[in-house]
Amino acid sequence: MKGLFITMEGPDGSGKTTQIKMLKGKLEEEGYEVVVTREPGGTKISEKIRHIILDKANIEMDDVAEALLYASSRAQHVAEIIKPAIEKGGIVISDRFVDSSVVYQGIGRGLGIELVEQINKPAIRGFMPDITFLFKILPDIGINRKVNQGDKDRLEREDLDFHKRVYEGYLKLEKLYPSRIKGIDANQSVEEIHHEIVRSVNNLIVNYK
Ligand code: TYD
Repeated sequence: MKGLFITMEGPDGSGKTTQIKMLKGKLEEEGYEVVVTREPGGTKISEKIRHIILDKANIEMDDVAEALLYASSRAQHVAEIIKPAIEKGGIVISDRFVDSSVVYQGIGRGLGIELVEQINKPAIRGFMPDITFLFKILPDIGINRKVNQGDKDRLEREDLDFHKRVYEGYLKLEKLYPSRIKGIDANQSVEEIHHEIVRSVNNLIVNYK
């Protein structure tokens, strides 16, 4: 089997992380080699970039500088983790990828989808996800969950309008790329969401063999 690249997207606090752990466990039980990773981050260098981006002290950060930092963190992540794992035939599950830049920087910050796609093209090197699960939860619910979990980072501190634009952006991407992006109702129980994801991934694996 050729490697499989799965990404999880959605508003902050939509429950992606729990589902990633559950999916990893399930796929490993079935004997697959699974790499779990996240953006921004995933490598030593990318985690350093993550720190700069999310540091709540960096209030003066320019929008284009922010988009470039996400892209540079992604370039390192693709080169060091995603590309080698996929080429070895493994399954990579990434908590966020380029869709996050398209909606947070492109739509949330207003840089435009096209500019953000351009900036990211050299970073991605053609490694687009085979499937993307979009966790759909209203942004105010997601943000409230995060607040209850403690201190908020620089992006989480943005006002609700920003997070609403991000959410609308995700819905737009889902319409633009219906064969890749699969919307998940994140208000369902953890178990229901898990089953829905496993079903889709199994379908994909069957078609790949
Ligand atoms: P993180 O703590 O990983 O949030 P979450 O648990 O919600 O995934 O923080 C990542 C933040 O960075 C999140 O608010 C989304 C944002 N982000 C972008 O704005 N652009 C990007 O390209 C990526 C990958 C993340």
